[in-house]
Amino acid sequence: MRLVVLTGSGVSAESGVSTFRDKDGVWARHDWREVATPEGFAADPEHVHEFYNARGRRLATVLPNPAHEALVRLESGLAAKGGAFLLVTQNVDDLHERAGSKSLLHMHGELLRARCEACGASRPWTDDLSTATACLGCASRGLMRPDVVWFGETPVFMEEIAAAISRADLFVSIGTSGSVYPAAGFVNEARLRHIPCVELNLEPSENAHCFTDARYGKATEIVPRWVDETLRG
Ligand code: OAD
Repeated sequence: MRLVVLTGSGVSAESGVSTFRDKDGVWARHDWREVATPEGFAADPEHVHEFYNARGRRLATVLPNPAHEALVRLESGLAAKGGAFLLVTQNVDDLHERAGSKSLLHMHGELLRARCEACGASRPWTDDLSTATACLGCASRGLMRPDVVWFGETPVFMEEIAAAISRADLFVSIGTSGSVYPAAGFVNEARLRHIPCVELNLEPSENAHCFTDARYGKATEIVPRWVDETLRG
């Protein structure tokens, strides 16, 4: 089996990481134009740094949950059977890697990395960022930013993801509202190849009609159950 799994913030919700569009989600409390666009960063970089610094610090207080852990079991179980597995996440948290996922691409970047807009270098970064932070490579100040993808920017690893979908025989989407492209369009690419597409989410997503199978409920319950079924089958 060659499997591509896409995850969104719903997979981390029960770890205590906020989703975006739920009623008390991140975008109900913050204006995405201010904190998640290049224009917002140019207008008020300190405000943007405060937003991401707080989210980065919060990661130290949360742990992977049984849904993250089940995806690690799926990866190793498929490897043992000679299958292929790629986990693509829209999440900028590090819970998949802390759970033990190996074949993982962060298409919207990572909270625990920083990038210099002067020299382009990206490196692991756990300290707070500010407009006074100097790049460890080129020493420029004021041009360090969280290494996350903002609205209006192109997600990363798109070629690798397209290649994996073009070889997959199963596509699974977990804990995402299906409202942000290009991730929301992966199911359409998979459907063009006539492969089964499964949605695992709390409730039907915006593109639920594109999937051939769906399970609804909490990720910590439905993901481990679905992984067990998949590895048995
Ligand atoms: P959303 O907030 O749009 O959607 C979260 C989805 O998770 C919803 O469909 C919820 O029903 C579902 N959900 C919530 N709790 C769940 C649980 N315990 N178990 C299973 N599902 C649950 O978040 P994303 O789809 O991740 O991008 O958002 C996609 C992108 O939009 C993010 O990566 C971010 C955001 O703006 C950028 O910032 C560029």
